[in-house]
Amino acid sequence: MKNISIAIDGPAGAGKSTVSRAVAERLGFVYIDTGAMYRAVGLAALNHGFDTTRAELIVPMLETTDVDIRHEAGGQKVFLNGEDITNKIRTPEVSVAASDVSAIPQVRLKLVELQRALAASRSVVMDGRDIGTYVLPNAEIKIFLTASPEERARRRFEELTQKGVKTDYESVRRDMEYRDANDSSREFAPLRPAEDSVTIDTTEITQEQSIDCIYNFIIEKIQGR
Ligand code: DC
Repeated sequence: MKNISIAIDGPAGAGKSTVSRAVAERLGFVYIDTGAMYRAVGLAALNHGFDTTRAELIVPMLETTDVDIRHEAGGQKVFLNGEDITNKIRTPEVSVAASDVSAIPQVRLKLVELQRALAASRSVVMDGRDIGTYVLPNAEIKIFLTASPEERARRRFEELTQKGVKTDYESVRRDMEYRDANDSSREFAPLRPAEDSVTIDTTEITQEQSIDCIYNFIIEKIQGR
């Protein structure tokens, strides 16, 4: 059977990763979190002590920055120059650094190559910002997952607090506004819904309802092909 690609895009905090992971598991597809790759490059820049908005520092760094994704029993693992950094990339600093470096075209070109190679060899649910518009324009199913800015900030704050990250709602909200603006306004492959995508607003529904809704939608589409 032909490999199937499902693209799930949307802003930070819309619930993309939880929903995409659960849907991939139910379908028996591989889940690919592309944000983790931008986070890896953001972390590399922070490790060098670089200002993450300065392309003239970040672009040369790419030559010695190897990002790799492996799928193990516990899910996706991210490696930076051979080191497993999966547990180091979820901090607010790395979120902002990832958004900054993601505006640099050379960073995107490097990571998009890896993303396309991953999708070429298997059926995937891939989440990000530009999967339906740029990375996998021929994806069979494209979903744009969103929610109100207040609800997204509230969810992200809860998630960080649960993980033991010390922060407050206002700074989470500020970081999110910064990233929303950054991710939507960059010139190359900005965040926007693909013309042939279906938008799902999760402000008023639970995570379980989002998962069911998207899973059912996919099954209907796949069977009706
Ligand atoms: O999905 P995330 O929050 O882990 O993504 C971190 C940042 O990476 C996000 O602010 C923008 C960038 N990103 C991107 O530009 N394109 C993608 N496909 C995925 C993430």
